Amino acid sequence: MCGIIGYVGPEGTDVTTILLEGLSKLEYRGYDSAGIAVLTTNGDLSLHRQPGKIANLKKALELVATVDSASGPVAGTLGIGHTRWATHGRPNETNAHPHPDCTGLLTIVHNGIIENYAELRHELGSSGHTFLSETDTEVLAHLIERSYFGEAQHNLTEAVRLALQHVRGTYAIAVVSREQPDVLVGARCNGGPLIAGLGTNENFLASDIPALLKHTRRILVLEEGEIVELRPNSVSLFQQDGTPIQREPLTIEWDIEAAEKGGYPHFALKEIHEQPEALRRALLGRIQDGQLHLSELDALRQSGALDSIQRIIIIACGTSYHAGLLAKYAIEKWARIPVETITASEFRYCDPIIGPETLCVAVTQSGETLDTLVGIRQAREHGAPVIAITNVVASAITRLSDAVLYLQAGPEICVVATKTFVTSVATLYLLGLYLGQLRGHIAQEQVSELLTAMERLPDQIQHILDHADSSDDELQSLAKRMAKVSSMMFIGRGVGFPTALEGALKLKEISYIHAEGFPAGELKHGSIALLDPDTPLFAIATTSHIYEKVVSNIQEVRARDAQVLVVATEGDEKIKQHADHVLYVPDTQEILSPLLASIPLQLFAYYVAVARGCNVDQPRNLAKSVTVE
Ligand code: F6R
Repeated sequence: MCGIIGYVGPEGTDVTTILLEGLSKLEYRGYDSAGIAVLTTNGDLSLHRQPGKIANLKKALELVATVDSASGPVAGTLGIGHTRWATHGRPNETNAHPHPDCTGLLTIVHNGIIENYAELRHELGSSGHTFLSETDTEVLAHLIERSYFGEAQHNLTEAVRLALQHVRGTYAIAVVSREQPDVLVGARCNGGPLIAGLGTNENFLASDIPALLKHTRRILVLEEGEIVELRPNSVSLFQQDGTPIQREPLTIEWDIEAAEKGGYPHFALKEIHEQPEALRRALLGRIQDGQLHLSELDALRQSGALDSIQRIIIIACGTSYHAGLLAKYAIEKWARIPVETITASEFRYCDPIIGPETLCVAVTQSGETLDTLVGIRQAREHGAPVIAITNVVASAITRLSDAVLYLQAGPEICVVATKTFVTSVATLYLLGLYLGQLRGHIAQEQVSELLTAMERLPDQIQHILDHADSSDDELQSLAKRMAKVSSMMFIGRGVGFPTALEGALKLKEISYIHAEGFPAGELKHGSIALLDPDTPLFAIATTSHIYEKVVSNIQEVRARDAQVLVVATEGDEKIKQHADHVLYVPDTQEILSPLLASIPLQLFAYYVAVARGCNVDQPRNLAKSVTVE
């Protein structure tokens, strides 16, 4: 949620291009407005902001350069940029970042929310500060200005440190001053991530690794409450009280290509096609010769914390929540431990009954979702052990957890979660098997069978994708036909129910078609009233112990003349008599079926969205990581 980029380097660098390229790698974090500030060679902080996507900002910059090449901010030593997901203030040019202070000497970009901004604004206003925007960020610019000209005596790093002592809320910020052309300052507290990229004679600041990969693989991740001062030849980390911190940089192993589209028209389609490989990586090293190895949990296990577990709470949002709902079926079946899956935004305010006997599992692909982070913090305060499941190495959630299981799905750039859903489910299932073994509730033979079936899944997903890609596949033409509808329903029973919820979420978020998921048996208790010939229904009817029940529910729907689309198991010819269209997936164990059934649902949502001309990778009003409440 909001993307930050910063650069400090030698004279004559094309800072504008570096910032714009970095921002375009961060656009998934928000695209309500974008802006940059560049310290030009003549010592001006040249500020450019535009509502909407980065393309608008680029166009505006090109125009400036055409009208007056001298005023186009091209070369410089220093710059910051921002892509915004609006929280305070409408997404217009005035509210776009960067925000200058009163004097125009300083400029700031910010990701997060300043909770006491109203009182700070009032206080600063009474001492003569005037504000141009409605944002909480501008208050930060003025606060830093006050300490810059006061106690900090024109030392930017010190000014930031002192100003932040007055702030309550969440932030990741980058700040520059016209007076200090070789200093870029960053700080982070509870807000989005902030990463320093270490180059040669130049250094970078960014919200996420893809924005840095073109320049460096050596990074330093800022922890909560830390401040970083970047100069062309040095990067210094401090605690909020000014104490210096020594930290070794991490080296990023994956390539820039992993964060590019690689010939696909959209990241969404690329990432859907990456699922076999992502799943292989998620299982890699964790299944060996039919045995399960989750060495990441060794320390927690040895501490004895898992022995006294009486219940499990899975905390997550959106698609990760759906993965958590599936995990409930698996963990309860294999470990016989009661599981409650709860939306993080509800958990934090429901006065939950938790303690050391409650294992909390946080699922968040980004590792940044604020509601999930706060939920986990709360759980820890009650003494609950916490396991995090995330895709992002060193993300905020990892620092709040007793153990981390990484998804190893590779970077997911499309705002809509696909490969992180499948790998979250698989990882949660492995956790379920691990706990089942620990409790002695599942025989080794059964574990081996399940693990073997899981190892087959990547090839089975590949088979679905290959079939969908082949020209004779009907999925695309079906999607084109369905692109005209205004509402759809999704039903399933057992593990088919969370699959239906996920299918509906995928469709609505990228195609803007209203879609709802229901337990198949629940439909007749009210929602069936919505069905008519113009409201198609997708039923998840893969092989299961309740298959016949799902078929009965489909028949109820057909009696209302609604069109029925079905996801079924290959070889099930009988289902055709109950459906207008069948999408087949390979056979697997019932509990694993969502990992296959969700693939045609993702593809369906994708092709419907494309047919409707929607922006698939960056749906309106959404952001990849939600770092506000
Ligand atoms: C849907 C989607 C969102 C996220 C949700 C939680 O495609 O991506 O619903 O699943 O915002 O995000 P994480 O998993 O990062 O906590």
